Amino acid sequence: DSMLAMAENVSQDTHGKFEAGKGTFLLNGKPFVVKAAELHYPRIPQEYWEHRIKMSKALGMNTICLYTFWNAHEPKENQFDFTGQNNLREFIRLCQKNDMKVILRPGPYVCAEWEMGGLPWWLLKKKDIRLRENDPYFLERVDKFQKAVAAQVADLTIADGGPIIMVQVENEYGSYGEDKKYVSNIRDMLRKNFGDNVTLFQCDWSSNFEKNGLDDLIWTMNFGTGANIDDQFRRLKELRPESPLMCSEFWSGWFDKWGANHETRPAADMIAGIDEMLSKNISFSLYMTHGGTNWGHWAGANSPGYAPDVTSYDYDAPINEQGAPTPKYWELRKALEKYTDGKQFPVPASIKTIDIKPFAFSKVAPIFSNLPEPKSDVNIRTMEEYDQGFGSIIYQTTLPELANGGFLTVNDPHDYAQVFVDGKYIGTLDRRNGEKQLSLPPCKRGARLDIFVEAMGRINFGRAIKDFKGITDNVTVTEDRNGYHFTCELKNWKVYNIEDEYECYKSYSYAPIESVSPDSTGRLPRGVYVGTFNINKPADTFLSFEKWGKGLVYVNGHGIGRIWEIGPQQTLYVPGTWLKKGENEVLVFDIMGPKEAVSFGSKTPELDKLLVKKPLTHREPGQELDLEGSKPVVSSSLTPGNGWKEISFGTPATGRYVCLEAVNSHDGKDRAAIAEMYLLDNNNERISREPWVVMYADSEDVEGVNRSADKTFDLQESTYWSTKKKDKFPHFIVIDLGKEHTLTGLQCLPRMESNAPSAIKDIKVYVSSVPFKF
Ligand code: GLA
Repeated sequence: DSMLAMAENVSQDTHGKFEAGKGTFLLNGKPFVVKAAELHYPRIPQEYWEHRIKMSKALGMNTICLYTFWNAHEPKENQFDFTGQNNLREFIRLCQKNDMKVILRPGPYVCAEWEMGGLPWWLLKKKDIRLRENDPYFLERVDKFQKAVAAQVADLTIADGGPIIMVQVENEYGSYGEDKKYVSNIRDMLRKNFGDNVTLFQCDWSSNFEKNGLDDLIWTMNFGTGANIDDQFRRLKELRPESPLMCSEFWSGWFDKWGANHETRPAADMIAGIDEMLSKNISFSLYMTHGGTNWGHWAGANSPGYAPDVTSYDYDAPINEQGAPTPKYWELRKALEKYTDGKQFPVPASIKTIDIKPFAFSKVAPIFSNLPEPKSDVNIRTMEEYDQGFGSIIYQTTLPELANGGFLTVNDPHDYAQVFVDGKYIGTLDRRNGEKQLSLPPCKRGARLDIFVEAMGRINFGRAIKDFKGITDNVTVTEDRNGYHFTCELKNWKVYNIEDEYECYKSYSYAPIESVSPDSTGRLPRGVYVGTFNINKPADTFLSFEKWGKGLVYVNGHGIGRIWEIGPQQTLYVPGTWLKKGENEVLVFDIMGPKEAVSFGSKTPELDKLLVKKPLTHREPGQELDLEGSKPVVSSSLTPGNGWKEISFGTPATGRYVCLEAVNSHDGKDRAAIAEMYLLDNNNERISREPWVVMYADSEDVEGVNRSADKTFDLQESTYWSTKKKDKFPHFIVIDLGKEHTLTGLQCLPRMESNAPSAIKDIKVYVSSVPFKF
């Protein structure tokens, strides 16, 4: 405690200075290694902010690194919110109170597996907006937001006696594009707002930071647990031999996606990385040190393809979602002790958890009997065009006569569309699987069609962040008349906007739960369910939703997140500070309908129970690729070691289907792995991977990990395709590029760990206009 008191005195310093010196950062003229804990205040209950800061300090950190989420701070145009969970200034004050420095990352784009990477959805009301570019409207809005942030905290920089030592310009722009003018504009805004003395930096990947690196900014690298650290800084050291080195995001774990395996990363690898960096005086921020929770509808999604993130942002971080230390925490704390002269701050007491006895829900409001007033529209439009940001939307019209049935095409369902004819459920189109079409039964002219679309998180990474919700283009119906197909576009819609708002759900008319019964599939009606439980002493708990379908949950009016039966997450974290003595209310909007309207609370989460129906691999049992008659367009060797490799085809090849054959590996073992790959066109440019689909992979390791072949184009250099341990070479993957291309070369990145484990040596590439046989 006396140490803490001392610490508080230290923070009274005024007019400090933080800058880049020769090979090191300097704090008030003295060498300083940044040991930052990444925490995101909106992801942590406000009442627990100081607990998490103290936990980070006790771990051995000296700085808190944080993002500001624009869409949380400006939920509606010009309505700024810096109160409660959004009280940025208060959070930074708490850091200062605990003598922690602060790195501020105000975006405007942040990625972070947060809805739209932090950008507000309402930007999409201007349909032709160019996000993260020099679009005048975009820049005007960014400028307003940046001014609002500065009004809160610009006086808290170290120059003014505050804790903020550095401010980040944009975020990993190299993974988005090449546009120094845009990045300069963001830099200039920050300089104007924070003054010329503020230390600004950019973060990117070692593979692409040169594209947008500005001469007057500090450059830092992002990479994950296990990466070859010397290799990560090699290029930076060549370009700027005297620059201080910093890993601005060292990934402690990874995020989970619905329908995929729970992600973990070994503590030993993380600690080895941190130990190596500190022994070389390399600064770091541990992303995440405590991940927290994607409350309400704030979880984002990744692309190519569409891979929505789960509610928990536990991240397999040293401090778990509930704020408790994990084994990783204790091991890391021990390792960091070396670098704090044996001085350590006490670990704060853990926050209490409770079990809650099973409770049944008592009331139900079926959604189809609680629809709002519809809007009428000739042509279908997106959610954003109806001024709706989140929730669900029902598009309703009538069908032409389909004497022999037919099929429905939805272009495109964002994100989960359930189709009904005359109130009867027909099927689902799940964007994760690229589904756009389903069969319709024979029906009479005038039959009612309902397409009930639930929006999940907007994509937060890559070019696809311009992610409209609802139905993005149109809907057609195709009639099958004895083998002849007639297609027409459906018009004249009624549109029901179901905003994700607690007050809205509460205003529905409820009936006793006894008034509903399960349908033939064993589910209760789609709708809103309300139940209560009683407790004596509020404490943290994890509510189970294993018996439910898919939707959103509120506890005492707090949006606590999304649920989906497929997992891997089956419980939601509920902080005790949002509970009260006596009766507590749970409200669930279940768009599929629960199997049983019951829940219970437990002291520990269930983040690792995948109940998925779709296989994670790309090969049917017994399938064998048959390359008979195909000749490789190139047969070559990749160089050993880390970093990007390139081979050129000699003569260009045209086709839509590409097969890679890995003949052997550099380490002589039976395993092949690829982190990322690109194909080059006639101008030696990378072709878009947006439409790519894996058609076949002979071997994929999905035993408790996510190493399927689609990881070769998931835009993440730290995730990879790996074959299973015992499967022998050669290994194959086949990709459908979506359309025909003329191809001239292949770029390929092995795993990031030292010596690039499982790196492919000899490789053959096949290109074909017709699908390969298997
Ligand atoms: C990048 C981004 C972060 C986050 C991580 C992955 O480094 O900058 O915002 O998305 O990836 O968790």
